[in-house]
Amino acid sequence: MSKNICFIDGLEGILKYRGIDINQLVDLPYDAISYLLILGELPGDQELAEYSACLHGAREVNREVLDVIHMCNFNVDSMEALRTIVSFMSQFDPDITDSSPEGNTRKAIRLIARIPTAVAAHYRIVNGNEPVPPDPSLSHGANFLYMIRGSKPSQLEAEVMEKDFILSAEHELNASTFSSRVTASTLSDLYSAIVSGLCALKGPLHGGARAEVMTMIEEIGSQENAEKIILEKIEKKEKIMGFGHRVYKTYDPRGAIFKQLSRELAEAKGDMCWYEIAEKIEETVIRELVEKKGKPIYPNVDFYSGVIYKYMDIPPQLATPIFAIGRVSGWIAHCFEQYEKKRIIRPRAFMLDEC
Ligand SMILES: CC(C)(COP(=O)(O)OP(=O)(O)OC[C@H]1O[C@@H](n2cnc3c(N)ncnc32)[C@H](O)[C@@H]1OP(=O)(O)O)[C@@H](O)C(=O)NCCC(=O)NCCS
Repeated sequence: MSKNICFIDGLEGILKYRGIDINQLVDLPYDAISYLLILGELPGDQELAEYSACLHGAREVNREVLDVIHMCNFNVDSMEALRTIVSFMSQFDPDITDSSPEGNTRKAIRLIARIPTAVAAHYRIVNGNEPVPPDPSLSHGANFLYMIRGSKPSQLEAEVMEKDFILSAEHELNASTFSSRVTASTLSDLYSAIVSGLCALKGPLHGGARAEVMTMIEEIGSQENAEKIILEKIEKKEKIMGFGHRVYKTYDPRGAIFKQLSRELAEAKGDMCWYEIAEKIEETVIRELVEKKGKPIYPNVDFYSGVIYKYMDIPPQLATPIFAIGRVSGWIAHCFEQYEKKRIIRPRAFMLDEC
């Protein structure tokens, strides 16, 4: 594998997976992106068909895992549930003690295939519904929407969900990927590394921001309220969720794609309300923080994705687990790279001063 897993130019707003620009990748199936990240290059038709068959055939979770999902059926945060479920899943993986590249690839396929099933089953159970078994004939995105709703999504919704997973799939050494990678660097198993990633993703300054964007947009409620409420937040020095980024000092390229997708969904549904509120928020933040104060606070990946979920009736509590479903391929790619290095990551405490 020659290409870096990820390349980000935070000043120019460029993102590449394995050397390929995100704008070229976003129209491919998620399975192809997962293959690209984990195995290092885009699959040919035959390779993609085989990889997809493995992924789609591995979606079901076993009875014991479903029992644990039922036991999480109390007011538990969906990410708390997910980290418990993934941790429990490891003991049923026949390759758990096989840390060869082949054994790790088989584990990777099970994790990528089954995390969506676990998320959807937990969501349905806490809402008093029976889990919907996965449909191997559907794409990663369509199958997930089918499992949470119990009915097949429209083609546009399925495509948007697929693109959401692709745009969330990888982003270099963000907090959750770093956590996964540190765990893998001890040569701990892949499930442990993925649980580490889930724990870091859960926080509101990382994956949790998307749910907070949704709550903020709901609370604002109308385009007329948007400017006033955002000005109040800025006056109180509150952070506006879904804006700003440690690396991007310009528009996040994923944010731009999500903005376009949310507009397409709004138009298709004949309801511009959430999109227009979001645009007003963006306009106000850019005017007040970028233009007047010179701070590079643009919409990040979480802002317009939150708008998309509003249009797809996805509730805030699913926002971070959905992020995890996409991101698991990126975590695994980094773990595999780290396993090859066979060297523990051990920063010194003074390095934290720069974080
Ligand atoms: C993503 C984030 C954690 C990056 O933080 P960071 O690189 O450490 O940037 P800082 O928190 O140091 O912020 C730098 C300045 O910009 C301001 N700023 C950063 N993000 C802001 C936001 N979302 N809203 C308002 N102001 C913001 C800070 O208040 C700070 O201002 P100051 O210099 O006057 O004190 C931060 O932008 C944030 O908390 N955003 C909201 C949460 C979010 O959307 N997270 C998802 C990230 S993909």
